[in-house]
Amino acid sequence: MYAKIAKYLACPSVYAPSDVSIWNDEHISKQMLLAHLNPDCEGASRKLSFIEDSVAWIKEIMPCQEYPALLDVGCGPGLYAERFYQAGYQVTGIDYSSRSIEYAKSSAKRKGLDIAYVCQDYLRMDYENTFDCATFIYCDYGALSTANRGLILQNIYRGLKKGGKLLFDVFSLEMFHDFQETQTWQICADGGFWSPEKHLLISGQYKYPQHVTLEKTTIITEDSIRTSNIWNTCFSLESLLEEVQLAGFKKVELFGDVAGQSYTTDRRTIAILLEK
Ligand SMILES: C[S@@+](CC[C@H](N)C(=O)[O-])C[C@H]1O[C@@H](n2cnc3c(N)ncnc32)[C@H](O)[C@@H]1O
Repeated sequence: MYAKIAKYLACPSVYAPSDVSIWNDEHISKQMLLAHLNPDCEGASRKLSFIEDSVAWIKEIMPCQEYPALLDVGCGPGLYAERFYQAGYQVTGIDYSSRSIEYAKSSAKRKGLDIAYVCQDYLRMDYENTFDCATFIYCDYGALSTANRGLILQNIYRGLKKGGKLLFDVFSLEMFHDFQETQTWQICADGGFWSPEKHLLISGQYKYPQHVTLEKTTIITEDSIRTSNIWNTCFSLESLLEEVQLAGFKKVELFGDVAGQSYTTDRRTIAILLEK
């Protein structure tokens, strides 16, 4: 029994995949969609007031008159995509969460917005010279393994026209330094966020070398044990620049976030504007 349980609770090797996808599991993806749609929650999307400021600022730095065709990578339920469309862009949103894409499509239909939503793994997208600009928002880049970060940058680079722009954000070393290692457990007798059934939750937050963090959740129900690993790589300016330059991008400008705050070393995020 000890060996069985210890196997589930041990720290996995860096970037080990989850048994359960928070974006596509039938129950958890419902909770994530609710989090996206809650205007005051920072769990899945940032707060609505931030999103509105962000779109207003993006319109200034990549105006739709010069950069009409926009790809929103990891678009979720379309909170940015709808606002980009209303600001005058031709918008394509890609995301592999079928629950989010279904919501995004039905919301666009209801509001009469002509947005192209694609339900696909962005690591497999194969656009070529198609978009004038791209956004990849809420630090999803850092959730990927080193190899997959290379792959997504290559895919976006290929999908942009020459001179096209990419804006994305990552967590900085400030975030890594503030991250607290903890281990906790909770009994959820009436179900909850992670499962509709009664379950026991064992959570661990761990720091790994090279500024990687893991939020590991083990969900134990009557007849199953599943684990969610949420990885995050935090970046120094140097480590971020190294990766984007390897993919062929030219740095245009740095910011503190995707709503145009100034870049300073004490901020928890870094946003970077790049050019193909
Ligand atoms: C943190 S959320 C951010 C959503 C949106 N950018 C926002 O800020 O409102 C990350 C999104 O990326 C999507 N995602 C994660 N990995 C993906 C992959 N490999 N392919 C496509 N979408 C992915 C998730 O489904 C989720 O909608």
